[in-house]
Amino acid sequence: AHGHGHGHGAAVGEQKGFVEEMRRVAMSLHTREQAPREGGKRADASKAETRPVATWTPTGEGYLNFLTESLAVYEAMETIVETDASGVYGKFKDNGLERSDALRKDIEYIERRFGLSKRDASGAGREYAETLKALAKTSPPEFICHYYNVYFAHSAGGRMIGRKVSELILDGKELEFYEWKKNGGLEASLTRVRNLLNETAEQWTREEKDRCLEETGKSFQLSGQLLRLIA
Ligand code: HEM
Repeated sequence: AHGHGHGHGAAVGEQKGFVEEMRRVAMSLHTREQAPREGGKRADASKAETRPVATWTPTGEGYLNFLTESLAVYEAMETIVETDASGVYGKFKDNGLERSDALRKDIEYIERRFGLSKRDASGAGREYAETLKALAKTSPPEFICHYYNVYFAHSAGGRMIGRKVSELILDGKELEFYEWKKNGGLEASLTRVRNLLNETAEQWTREEKDRCLEETGKSFQLSGQLLRLIA
């Protein structure tokens, strides 16, 4: 599916729905260096993560920072879903895409491997987590935009980045962050979540859908700050 620019978005027999709208906006915000087939923007010299992944120079320290900040983001997402009070997010529970357990193990592994000490998320991930907690309460369409972009970006570009970093600094060792073992694996989990997202958005007005789509830029900005820690 990855060989064709529309791989994830258009499986045969699957309802396209609102996820396809979110995907189109997300792809337009990639640089051509990030996604040669679908990216619409130019690389920004001041933002290392917009350059080709092949030019990145990761270190153990930078990668540990990235994983630590990422854990804050996934813990926020997953706590919001698990403790859902609104009735909007509860159905996303245990869908197979959850990443916090994997990240906790990977963080310990990277600390051991590079002899680094544990740190707290204090930067981009902390900021993203706070944003998510606020949006979950005030604006489900905006929260859902982040939910889609964080989990689906990680399954696409994120996986590519994981392979590259592993080649460069981990002798090819694959981290659990990039392995989806539960609920039938990655493809089944993505399909399940795509259907849940489509169902959720069917309850929204056009105005709410547009508010969701317009949040995509914020998601790129916040995730970009995290990726910059590895680049
Ligand atoms: C999809 C690369 C950052 C959100 C993709 C695809 C590529 C890619 C190549 C196409 C996958 C395919 O359909 O075959 C990258 C690279 C990035 C990056 C190299 C940074 C260095 C981001 C960021 C976000 C994002 C920051 C949002 C926060 C998405 C989404 C998709 C996608 C939502 C669609 C996934 C799907 O259809 O299942 N990315 N991306 N990406 N990316 Fe990124």
